[in-house]
Formats: sequence, structure tokens, C-alpha cells
Amino acid sequence: MAKLAQIIFLMASIIMAATIVRAYNVLLGVCLGLSGDNLPPPWKMVQLCKKYSIRRIRLDEPNIDVLNAFRGAEIDLSFGIPNDMLTDMATNKALVEEWFNTYIKPFVNEFKINYVIVGDKAIPGLDICILPVMMSFQDLLNANYIGQVKLTTLVGYNAALAYKDPPSSGAFHPTISENMRGILKFLSEEGSPLMVSVFPYRKYMFDGGISLNYAIFNETEPVVRDGELNYYNLFDAMVEAVYAAIDKEAVGDVTVVVGETGWPTCGSDDDATPAIAEEYNKKFVSHICSGKGTPRKPNVFLEGFIQSIFNEDEKPQGDSQCYGMFDINMNPIYSLSLVQ
Ligand SMILES: *[C@@H]1O[C@H](CO)[C@@H](O)[C@H](O)[C@H]1NC(C)=O
Repeated sequence: MAKLAQIIFLMASIIMAATIVRAYNVLLGVCLGLSGDNLPPPWKMVQLCKKYSIRRIRLDEPNIDVLNAFRGAEIDLSFGIPNDMLTDMATNKALVEEWFNTYIKPFVNEFKINYVIVGDKAIPGLDICILPVMMSFQDLLNANYIGQVKLTTLVGYNAALAYKDPPSSGAFHPTISENMRGILKFLSEEGSPLMVSVFPYRKYMFDGGISLNYAIFNETEPVVRDGELNYYNLFDAMVEAVYAAIDKEAVGDVTVVVGETGWPTCGSDDDATPAIAEEYNKKFVSHICSGKGTPRKPNVFLEGFIQSIFNEDEKPQGDSQCYGMFDINMNPIYSLSLVQ
């Protein structure tokens, strides 16, 4: 009898462990950028997501045809309010409501909407507009009993932070600090994370003095020691500079979700190759799916979106056009499994 109980306990543990491992996979998503004039039609995009087990996608801006294609596909979506609408929306609640009625209401029962991103690297610049739009939007979510949709804004590591190295010195630019405090207070109260754009590739390229292995999660020894904490990869160091900046504003707990990260396969640089992009993204996938968080926040799950599904020929010249994992015929540019 005791033996049977042991076996049952063992089996239950295995099933639970399997469930937990699978749960971390849902922390992983992919950006579906639409800035290309040669992209496949939306229904093929859905097919591709299913084929490669992509469970979450993020669109820069919602597109009705794309949203319609994802109806009932059991893939979660996140999308943003375009920056050029924020100034007007901040002072005109009716515009927020119109947008809500166009992009949220008809779709909220068709797929899970994870995040509505109020501003895509709109800080600094539009930082004064973000909180008023978030508050109007949240009122609409509440009035319609939509609890699952979280509001956030996407901030750029470079643009938003005045101090970055070492990670613990991370701080927002003084000019945006006051508006960031308001936004962070809102996020903390609503239990929403701050979405950040983190590209170790760009820091590696432009800052200099950084080893490729550190930039692509391929170091076995710590490269940066910051107080008690050891950093084995640049990605963690960048994420934690943002955490340090958030903590300095002292408005409550706000976690970070990585809204975009990746490695280009073309452009003008020798290190922009499919092989290196594969290495970076593979390690990124295992990092996210491990559920281990980052050195400063070891128990906080990290969510992340890989940039991007397709190369986008209408993005600015250079590496921006080259983050795609698939070519326009939907063939992988390198092999990457999103299932751990
Ligand atoms: C990762 O590091 C190992 C050991 O230093 C090296 O042999 C390998 O080429 C590196 N991988 C990449 C993709 O650079």
C-alpha cells in the first residue's frame, strides 16, 4: 500500500513538473512586424505561428485584417496604440473610446489580449501623454469588465536610461523621471509590467569593449560583477539596469516584460549572420523558458518577445530590416525551436 502511495506521489510530481515547465513556454512570444511590402497574407501568418508553436505575438499596431485572421486561433495577441494618436487621445477621451471599440471590443472574446502598449518608445517626447491615455483606457476596461488586458508602454533601454553601467546604477533621465513615476505608480496599482526594448546587439555594436560571447549568452564565467551580483550575459545586465531605474523611483513593485529583443542576420556588419542570430535566440528562448528570472530578481519570471517573424523591407535601412526568423516564403532563415 505504501508502495502504491509512493508511486502515485511520484507520478503526481512528474505531472506537476511537466505542467510547470510547459507554463514557462507561455512567457515567450514573437513580434509580428508588418512594415514590409512583400509579406504573406494574414491567414498564412496564422498558419506559420501554428506550425512553429508560436503562442503569443505582438503587433506594433493593430491591423483589422490581421486581427480577423487570428480569431479563434488560440494565439495570444498584444498590440499598441500608434504614437501619433497619443497627443490627441490624452485630452480627448472619446478618441480612446473609439479605438477601444474598434480594436478591443470586437476581439476580446476571439483571442486573449495580453498587452495594449500605450506608446512605442514614445518616452522621452510623449511621456506627458502616456498616463492620461492609460487612465482613460483602464476606465473602459473596467466598465466592460475586461480584467485580462494589461496596459503598458514600451520604453527603449537607450532612450529612457541616463545611467546604465553597472546595472545597479540604472536610472531614468531626470527629464522623464516625474512622468515615469506617475506611469510606474499606475502600473504597480494595476499589476502591469513595464515593457522594455532590449537589444544587446546594438550595445555590442555601438558601445565597444563588449565581447561577442557576452552579448550572445555564450560566456561561462561572469563578465560583470556588480556588488554581490554576477552577470554572465549582456541581456541580463541591460534588463537589470531598467529594474534598478524602476526601483529608484520607489513607487512600488513593477516587473519588466521584454517587448522586443533579437539579433539581425543581415545589414552591414560581420556579426549579423544567421548562425549568430540562431545562437542568440536559442539561448534567449532557454533563458525565458527556464523561468529563472535575472540575478537581481531571481524569482521573478521574465516574459519576452523575439524580434521578429519576418524581415521588414519598409523599416529604416540597416539592421532594422534584418531581424526576421523567416523569409517571405515562410521558410526558416535558421533553425529555432520555440518549444523547450
Ligand atoms: C561560444 O563559445 C565557444 C567557446 O568559447 C566557442 O567555441 C563558440 O564558437 C561560441 N559560439 C559562437 C556562436 O560564437
